[in-house]
Amino acid sequence: MSKVIIAPSILAANFLELGKDIEMLNQSKAEWIHIDVMDGMFVPNISFGFPILEAVRSITAKVCDVHLMVQQPERYFTEFKKAGADAISIHYEGNIHLHRCIQEIKSLGMKAGVVLNPHTSVAVLHDILMELDYVLLMSVNPGYGGQKFIETTVVKTKELKTLLTSKGAKALIQIDGGVTPANAKALIDAGADVLVAGSAVFKSPDPLATIEQMLNS
Ligand code: DX5
Ligand code: ZN
Repeated sequence: MSKVIIAPSILAANFLELGKDIEMLNQSKAEWIHIDVMDGMFVPNISFGFPILEAVRSITAKVCDVHLMVQQPERYFTEFKKAGADAISIHYEGNIHLHRCIQEIKSLGMKAGVVLNPHTSVAVLHDILMELDYVLLMSVNPGYGGQKFIETTVVKTKELKTLLTSKGAKALIQIDGGVTPANAKALIDAGADVLVAGSAVFKSPDPLATIEQMLNS
């Protein structure tokens, strides 16, 4: 059984009690904390930005994994680094200087990932795979938590795993959206390394047990 990383998305946390939710994650077996930043332009929704990341960073040693759903994300790499980001993922869609952006993220000392929307083929990654620390496959359309998992993501995960293996690429495969204990095993079997889960963790009556359940899928 390969070791999977669980990355709870704080988009589904209780913002009135964010400190308590982060303390709970600190006690958990989740290794990453997923931070969804939305600008109301790249996606219809607006979430949160630097102050929330800074606050989270101040009370956790977990990997702070920032998923940027914003236009021209390169405007903010330095600031996210200062706010405490360990890893930044940016979308393939609409980014005409993806290669340069990835180099910039890495040169700031962070892990760099590329995100694909559900309609984007893994084939587009062919010429950038070797540069990446991780690839995030969206298993819902980005913008909102609590959506239904798109089942074809399992096959897409296998396709990506095959592509990575064929090129000898070391990038991790991260899956984001509608991930639950019910679909975790299929994703891990398909090759997923990092599972993002918002609602499944924070709406669970026992988040620690849910994280562990996904980990042991
Ligand atoms: C969606 C975000 C996801 C979301 C996942 O745009 O990228 O990270 O928070 O939430 P759940 O697990 O509730 O689908
Ligand atoms: Zn996300």
